[in-house]
Amino acid sequence: STPILTIDGPSGSGKGTISRIVAQQLGWHYLDSGALYRAVAVAAGWADVDLADPSALVRCTFDTDIRFVDEPGHELKILVNGADATLELRTETAGAAASAIAAIPEVRSALVERQRRFAREPGLVTDGRDMGTVIFPNARYKVFLTASAKERAERRYKQLIDKGVSVTIDGLLREILARDARDSQRTVAPLRPAPDAAHVDTTGLSIQEVVEQVLSVVRS
Ligand code: CDP
Repeated sequence: STPILTIDGPSGSGKGTISRIVAQQLGWHYLDSGALYRAVAVAAGWADVDLADPSALVRCTFDTDIRFVDEPGHELKILVNGADATLELRTETAGAAASAIAAIPEVRSALVERQRRFAREPGLVTDGRDMGTVIFPNARYKVFLTASAKERAERRYKQLIDKGVSVTIDGLLREILARDARDSQRTVAPLRPAPDAAHVDTTGLSIQEVVEQVLSVVRS
């Protein structure tokens, strides 16, 4: 069967960055599952769908066309109903709305098949919260990435300051702890490592060091 590497972990653990590099080095396809939830959140915003109306959000999930344009040497581009939503998807507003929408069971089940279709030869690297537990429980390789909340807040701080956004480390730390709590305490697909996942703590490690450790899981 097609080899699959799942990389799950909390917000700010570096899943996205690491997964893209590892996929590139292996020459495998890449699925950013969080982008699907973010895309539904953005589409809901465009259509003025109430975030407190689960059935409207489920309808919105079925109606939203999401495409990944992944060309070598270019940033991953995401089209939502045909429009380039790459930048809007990355905003904190979209992340928070995605986290709320992701707690609706019917939204999650509506996205299961769309995610599984990404498993194609020669292989798939996929990151998220439940890739190794729910979407690809039989994946050949599984990694659970962590980092201390403080380090994750500091990473996000650097990213945002570089973009000229004014934030404080303390404020970001509170946001991260709140998102962790919501993602791990929700009843559907709570964030937890698959029993057979290799744990990689990225606190104090460089991107290259984490990439090496993740690649060693695939090569061992
Ligand atoms: O890394 P970060 O949390 O900033 O963003 P993300 O991975 O794009 O995920 C955004 C939100 O979508 C998370 O807070 C999760 O609640 C949700 N999500 C999920 O429930 N399941 C996934 N497989 C991926 C994301």
